[in-house]
Amino acid sequence: MEISKVGVLGAGLMGHGIAQVAAQAGYDVVLREVDQARLDKGIGRIEKQLGRAVEKGRMEQSDADAVRGRINGTLDYADYADCDLVIEAITENLQQKLDMWRELDGIVNDGAVLATNTSSLSVIDQAAATRRPGRFVGLHFFNPAQVMPLLEVVQTVTTDEESLKTGFEFGERLGKTCVHAKDKTGFIVNRLLVPYMLDAIRAYEEGVGSIDQIDAAMKAGANHPMGPFTLLDFVGLDTTKSIADIMFDEYRERRFAAPPTLRKMVAAGFYGQKSGRGFYDYSGDKPVAVDPGL
Ligand code: CAA
Repeated sequence: MEISKVGVLGAGLMGHGIAQVAAQAGYDVVLREVDQARLDKGIGRIEKQLGRAVEKGRMEQSDADAVRGRINGTLDYADYADCDLVIEAITENLQQKLDMWRELDGIVNDGAVLATNTSSLSVIDQAAATRRPGRFVGLHFFNPAQVMPLLEVVQTVTTDEESLKTGFEFGERLGKTCVHAKDKTGFIVNRLLVPYMLDAIRAYEEGVGSIDQIDAAMKAGANHPMGPFTLLDFVGLDTTKSIADIMFDEYRERRFAAPPTLRKMVAAGFYGQKSGRGFYDYSGDKPVAVDPGL
């Protein structure tokens, strides 16, 4: 199916990155937020990244201007009427997503494919809330979406072949490595990555090593770009806990259970990089590991 206009819902951490990579691939993009301040913040992040790309010689100024010109910010669902593909990247809350789809489904043209960037909810729960469960896929991007090469293309029990193919064609045009995943909570990556991050916390709780030693070990011993605690702070401790809780609810397996340290840190508001403190303190020149003392 030919896509020319892509709608992205949510200009937060994932949404702004998805909008940017779609515009870089030549699509016209409409990007919505719930208020002007959030929309300006998301568009500002895109402009900053484009500016950096020009500074570093990775992009010509004229190309950056063209990418920016293809992204239209809006507060209005009516601007999604002529989209061919709509990807939601709003808060990871099923009820909010269902409310949004119920409103949008009647506005977007019937031929369009709808997609969710959910990292942990079952895609079918959203698909079934629309009038087009056949034309609904999961498109799971990784943070930062501008850099991470993977796209999980998720097929539900209702997804039709044409919509699945559209998901793959879109991802390939973005230059992503596309993998096919079934609609099992966590898909491929989080099913493996979340227990690994939770196990790093358990290793710390059991006294195997300190936070910075465990991080150093996994970087140098497994060639990971970030150790598990740096990654936890990067993903967000609140986000990780919410994904773990959803996976635990679904599978009832200990490997998905949030360890007490994680639960307490989230309760204390230590969310990682975004709040200035997680397993590291980000207030100084460089991050310093802090003993959660819990
Ligand atoms: N947006 C756009 N570009 C970014 C960026 C961002 N947020 N962060 C970094 N970059 C770019 C930089 O501009 C830089 O590009 P150039 O080399 O062309 O200048 C490049 O990425 C490398 O960045 P840095 O030199 O600053 O730092 P780095 O080499 O340490 O790379 C990283 C940063 C790409 C984040 C790397 O550390 C990494 O790959 N970390 C692991 C990230 C990861 O695992 N993500 C998945 C999280 S799980 C998830 O997302 C799924 C989920 O559902 C929770």
